Amino acid sequence: MTNLHGLVAVVTGASGGIGEGLAKMLAEEGVRVVLAARRAEELQRVAEEIRAAGSEALVLPTNMRDEAELLALLERTEQEFGPVDILVNNAGIARNQPIHALNMKHWDLVMEVNVRAPALLCSRVLPGMRERRRGYIINLSSEAGSFVFPGMGAYCISKNALRVMTQLIQEENQDRNIKAWAISPGMVDTAMGADMPGGNVENFLKVEEVVEVVRFLLKQGDNVRMGPEVLIRPMRDPFG
Ligand SMILES: NC(=O)c1ccc[n+]([C@@H]2O[C@H](COP(=O)([O-])OP(=O)(O)OC[C@H]3O[C@@H](n4cnc5c(N)ncnc54)[C@H](OP(=O)(O)O)[C@@H]3O)[C@@H](O)[C@H]2O)c1
Repeated sequence: MTNLHGLVAVVTGASGGIGEGLAKMLAEEGVRVVLAARRAEELQRVAEEIRAAGSEALVLPTNMRDEAELLALLERTEQEFGPVDILVNNAGIARNQPIHALNMKHWDLVMEVNVRAPALLCSRVLPGMRERRRGYIINLSSEAGSFVFPGMGAYCISKNALRVMTQLIQEENQDRNIKAWAISPGMVDTAMGADMPGGNVENFLKVEEVVEVVRFLLKQGDNVRMGPEVLIRPMRDPFG
């Protein structure tokens, strides 16, 4: 089993939902966690809960759409905690339209948050991980990143792109002992999941269920390669 104690993680979208759950799980494993998202007060709440449980957390409010803020996030992380060992690209946003009704402002928003920000962060942390011959990249894709869901437009395309980016990262860094996963859940019981028309929240995945899969993946030994695509679906029909 891999011991994560003392490693440094950046978790984007840590102000709620799946990102909050992942940040708390990492903190439980002894990882020093940097929390990034726009809502500073929610990040503070999560940080206080992590500290109350005896772990370390640093709050760095960051807008995924702002390149300077993303670069500052990594710089401050390195200054305060050291180089990034675990990058969790979890921040995400959905705007659903069929291609014949695309709103290009929504397209830009979704692509900037779901694809461009993860690409920039990965490109900046990977050189150090390659030198140290250790690193974990966790990209929150979606079931909509593995299949085509009519009407989900930019979101579906962005999550497919994120999955392919993750596959490239794994192949390009396989010889450097780096592990990358595209975590691809079906509907999850969060603010984003609740926005899905016609969904039956009772049948959705719970945040803890997704989080426990990620914990399992991280704790496997160096010689174990799983994924990079990891599909996680609820047993019951999320629209039933
Ligand atoms: N819920 C589902 O059914 C589901 C299914 C499959 C995959 N996913 C994926 O899982 C990830 C987490 O989703 P969730 O369900 O936990 O959604 P959520 O509760 O809506 O959380 C989204 C997170 O992204 C952050 N975020 C959004 N735009 C941002 C921006 N411009 N800059 C910085 N942070 C931003 C939000 O923080 P602030 O608002 O504080 O900035 C929030 O912390 C997403 O990538 C999502 O696509 C979700």
